[in-house]
Amino acid sequence: MRKKIVAGNWKMNKTLDEALALTSEVVNMIQDEVRGDVEVVLCTPALYLTTLKKYVENAPKIALGAQNCHEKASGAYTGEISAPMLKAAGIPYVIIGHSERRQYFAESNAQLAAKVDSALENGLTPIFCCGESLEQRQNEDYVNVVKTQLTESLFHLSADQLASVVIAYEPIWAIGTGLTASSEQAQEMHAALRAHLSSKYGSEVADGISILYGGSVGAGNAAELFACPDVDGGLVGGASLKSRDFTDIVKARQ
Ligand code: PGA
Repeated sequence: MRKKIVAGNWKMNKTLDEALALTSEVVNMIQDEVRGDVEVVLCTPALYLTTLKKYVENAPKIALGAQNCHEKASGAYTGEISAPMLKAAGIPYVIIGHSERRQYFAESNAQLAAKVDSALENGLTPIFCCGESLEQRQNEDYVNVVKTQLTESLFHLSADQLASVVIAYEPIWAIGTGLTASSEQAQEMHAALRAHLSSKYGSEVADGISILYGGSVGAGNAAELFACPDVDGGLVGGASLKSRDFTDIVKARQ
């Protein structure tokens, strides 16, 4: 059985007070309303993670994640945080390779491979993001583009290491645009990625990897997306900033 996961990616949003309020609301709503077996991950700005830990420590379904980490353990990299720092702070998840990091910070597949390594060496669960641009989708080569992202950033891992990775497929044209991939489009890509993993690691390993969908997931479309057999959950941006919407998305996955 694959893990069902709904992760919220807050991006660069919320002041500390707002973050505390949102976390309290989400913790209470999830505890009151969610009975099923689903892991909820709140990927907040790194500044808040240690403060938010005490808000989620009695909420067994809820874990915290960072939105990025550096590939080096320490050193002269002003402004960065490392995987050992996240480990020491007790933060279990980290998003690696979000399309905004790839686009605005020029993160390459090779650099992301090093970040995945650092996360795994420190016992963190990477939520590895992949996805094609609108132009790539229109060129009809989109499946190969995303398969190559997996090949270049993950295929150096052992099967045991890969088993600790969560993948998030996020078509760039669907992020923050209100355009969602249809459930057919999501299922097509998720099945193709799972087959790609299977070609290298075998079907038993591939069948155990959680593949999340991201890109304008909302309370209104989550159930349909999560009904796809290869969609194991969601990575949610905008809608994770509203406790009611986010909880409804989690309920759609339970
Ligand atoms: P969105 O963002 O849900 O606002 O489209 C998703 C993401 O970037 O992870």
